Amino acid sequence: MDIWTKLKSRQDAIKDRPILALFEGTDRAENFSAQLGDMLFDYSKTNIDADTRSDLLHLAEDAGVAEKRDAMFAGAQINATEGRAVLHTALRNLDGDPVMVDGVDVMPAILDTLGRMGKFANQIRESDITDVVNIGIGGSDLGPAMAVQALGPYHDGPRCHFVSNVDGAHIADTLRELDAKTTLVIVASKTFTTIETMTNARTARAWMIDHGGDPKTQFAALSTADEKTADFGIDPDQVFGFEDWVGGRYSVWGPIGLSVMLAIGPRGFNAFLRGGQAMDIHFRAAKPIENLPMMLALVGIWHNQICGYTSRAVLPYDERLGQLPNYLQQLEMESNGKSVQMDGTDTPRDTGPVVWGAAGTNGQHAFYQLIHQGTRVIPAEFLIAANGHEADLAHHHSLLIANCLAQSEALMQGRHLDEARRIMAAKGLSGDELERQARHRVFPGNRPSTTLAYPLLDPFTLGQIIALYEHRVFVEGVILGINSYDQWGVELGKELATSLQPIVDGDQSADSKDPSTAALVSFIHKHRA
Ligand code: F6P
Repeated sequence: MDIWTKLKSRQDAIKDRPILALFEGTDRAENFSAQLGDMLFDYSKTNIDADTRSDLLHLAEDAGVAEKRDAMFAGAQINATEGRAVLHTALRNLDGDPVMVDGVDVMPAILDTLGRMGKFANQIRESDITDVVNIGIGGSDLGPAMAVQALGPYHDGPRCHFVSNVDGAHIADTLRELDAKTTLVIVASKTFTTIETMTNARTARAWMIDHGGDPKTQFAALSTADEKTADFGIDPDQVFGFEDWVGGRYSVWGPIGLSVMLAIGPRGFNAFLRGGQAMDIHFRAAKPIENLPMMLALVGIWHNQICGYTSRAVLPYDERLGQLPNYLQQLEMESNGKSVQMDGTDTPRDTGPVVWGAAGTNGQHAFYQLIHQGTRVIPAEFLIAANGHEADLAHHHSLLIANCLAQSEALMQGRHLDEARRIMAAKGLSGDELERQARHRVFPGNRPSTTLAYPLLDPFTLGQIIALYEHRVFVEGVILGINSYDQWGVELGKELATSLQPIVDGDQSADSKDPSTAALVSFIHKHRA
């Protein structure tokens, strides 16, 4: 029996077993958690037992996770469909140990760019610039936008704004509030060809010229495409480059993180990188069973591929991590939303799950109903800091923690019909009405969750968290036999949008389009002013 089949039959046998029962007479809370320094990953509230975990670890071993991890860190071309190495980890390799790509050590150039970014950031932070507008999309937006919000308490630089959508509303609403003379515009695009970003960049440049700013000094670019940034007219001194072996959704650690550095300063950014580096060191050195990315990934594989739960909810109990679910959507779904294995054959099983979520406690008053009582099981991934930054509002933080812990407890314990009946009887109900009302108050329970806990969301910790999720994607991708580092699935829509633009503008007929698309174009034409 292969290991996948073994895990599946194990799951069939235990699927109705109460998670709570697994704690009886054991140190499960300790044994089914892993720690890195002050960071705790608790997966004890899942149906994984010691045998299951050992099978999952074998799965990782069989898939060659350790060898492939070492190959990634060593600069091998593990992104085979694009012929590229995958080396975002080099961006946080602050001690500068050599990292070789095609026989060349890439570290001197990385550290040089980091130094230039630091000088530029200090110069801007000491200047009259009051606002920074980062224009980018996908990985050139989600990472820095998420990190700037997450690190609000450390933000002592200019205000940061993020424009991503090609919808003119986004840039119009952003620029309306700003003074062109004191705004720095950062054009963040790995390729410097992305239609949304280039359209917004041109609009921002026209706005700056019209409102008395100077694009020569007030524009910077973050890109792998030097020539294109020069064609756009950006001063090479204000261009911060990186190489194509940094994937867009893995790029916040380098130049794409410039807005984060402007917000919190080079020293804070350094701490963020150190956090990522600490997770790298742990991922490379820790035994699989003690390895946070490994165990987070194996819990993911268990829930998604073995138990068949098709989505996972990321639930940070931290208002400032409100954008983490959006960020992880790209990181996980663009990376592992694939149907073809490395060798070109179809995958024999489902790949990446739907990733979604929102900050607690808000989500509790929106979608948690379905997580608790809906017909589908949705594994929940909670994140919580022991401390908030608002020392004078510690009672808020106590409530936040209590709510976070209460949710995972409620998901696991549920509420049995007998208890619901007792509650209804205490309210004075009886007979059929008691029975009917009680059934609505039953919580099935036995719903899995994990919790990532840490002392405080500071730059170092945020770096650890992001690197943890990156490596989780890597491990899951290796086990699934897919390439987590390409994104061909976004191309077709881009091509069709290009072909549709002249049709939408009325310069070409819609005859080449399918009847539905042609009818929608005709509706738009009829109603477009
Ligand atoms: O369309 C997907 C994508 O290629 C992402 O992978 C990337 O993060 C985003 O577009 C933006 O790309 P760029 O940084 O080249 O503008």
